[in-house]
Amino acid sequence: MQLQIAPSILSADFSALGKDIEMLNGCADLIHLDIMDGSFVPNISFGFPVVEAVAKYARIPMDAHLMVVHPERWVGRCAELGVSMMSFHQEAAGDDTAAILADIRAHGMKAGLVINPDIPVETLFPYIGQADYFLIMSVFAGFGGQKFIPESLDKIKALKKEMDRRGLDAPIEVDGGVNAENAQLLKKAGAGILVAGSSVFNAADPAEAIAQLRGGTHAC
Ligand code: DX5
Ligand code: ZN
Repeated sequence: MQLQIAPSILSADFSALGKDIEMLNGCADLIHLDIMDGSFVPNISFGFPVVEAVAKYARIPMDAHLMVVHPERWVGRCAELGVSMMSFHQEAAGDDTAAILADIRAHGMKAGLVINPDIPVETLFPYIGQADYFLIMSVFAGFGGQKFIPESLDKIKALKKEMDRRGLDAPIEVDGGVNAENAQLLKKAGAGILVAGSSVFNAADPAEAIAQLRGGTHAC
């Protein structure tokens, strides 16, 4: 599968968001939206008014990553705003995980399940076949600009192996500290979608940074 690049607008210039979204429309595959509630994670990012503003400009799919308690409350809202992919943390959902995945799908979105670095990858196994994609956090959710945790590579490999064993496949997304140095290692381990915030938006040429994550040359 072709590697997809999902820049996180958490590191974008919020005073000129339209301009950054236009660049992503031409250069990226997905727009990653990090929604934080100050409760599940010790930080607040942005909420639905910003998602609505992004939706006005977005011509590529919006990939919402909910770092919130009670993710089930926001399924309808994400769907209404045109989000294509909605993921939430297994740690936040517990026993409700399967029901939330099903509800996201029932709303016509792709359902993604996320785990933080301290959660064993086996936690995801019961949901193989129920989630449309999985998100392995390679930093602790809450802040952009943190350092990649190398053990995440083993988690990706283990999840990929388990899916192969069952003859099932779902893209594995990786989020946190992703840059041109680790992108190809992540791809080799089995990652299909790379999220990158600071390595894209803090680069002198964000479009070039996206091309480098893909392992190619300038494509837009
Ligand atoms: C962290 C977010 C990430 C973050 C990635 O809680 O989920 O999407 O913005 O930022 P970088 O690429 O800077 O680690
Ligand atoms: Zn994210």
